[in-house]
Amino acid sequence: MRTAIYPGSFDPVTLGHLDIIRRASVMFDRLIVAVMHNQNKQPMFSVEERMEFLRCTTSQLPNVEIASFDGLLADYARQQGACAVVKGLRAVSDFEYEFQMALANRKLNPELDTVFLMTSAEYMYLSSSVVKDIAVHGGSVAGFVPDGIMQDIVRRTRKEG
Ligand code: PNS
Repeated sequence: MRTAIYPGSFDPVTLGHLDIIRRASVMFDRLIVAVMHNQNKQPMFSVEERMEFLRCTTSQLPNVEIASFDGLLADYARQQGACAVVKGLRAVSDFEYEFQMALANRKLNPELDTVFLMTSAEYMYLSSSVVKDIAVHGGSVAGFVPDGIMQDIVRRTRKEG
């Protein structure tokens, strides 16, 4: 049983994330999509909301589990018996930061490798920040986030503003 973890803020999940989830789910027996804390970001959606968006989005993928963890990714991977971390790369600009995290994670947990999947070309520009910015300013996020969660994101974002 090969378990991988796809960690992130997922604030909220986008079609770019879903593309990585789908592709990683066929590479591993079990894929845990883990909502984790990024100390450089102040999330708009609660952990429970982000998990619910992910559950709704991945319900058709039987080997995908949604979880959250508040500590170190390297510890969580050990706890779950995961052999790999999955990360998506959109551009060369993502690489330096991701490379640093991959090395730090392997230092903390020598059994843990990071597998990078290149984004599909149509999602290169897409990020959760772009989605929030569009939604907060009243634009349409159709084609940016999965259809099933679009209305909830818009409703929640407008309430916030
Ligand atoms: O979607 P993001 O915000 O780019 O994801 C970053 C995330 C949450 C994966 C990263 O901040 C993380 O791994 N946080 C957990 C704490 C941790 O292990 N930090 C050390 C990384 S070397």
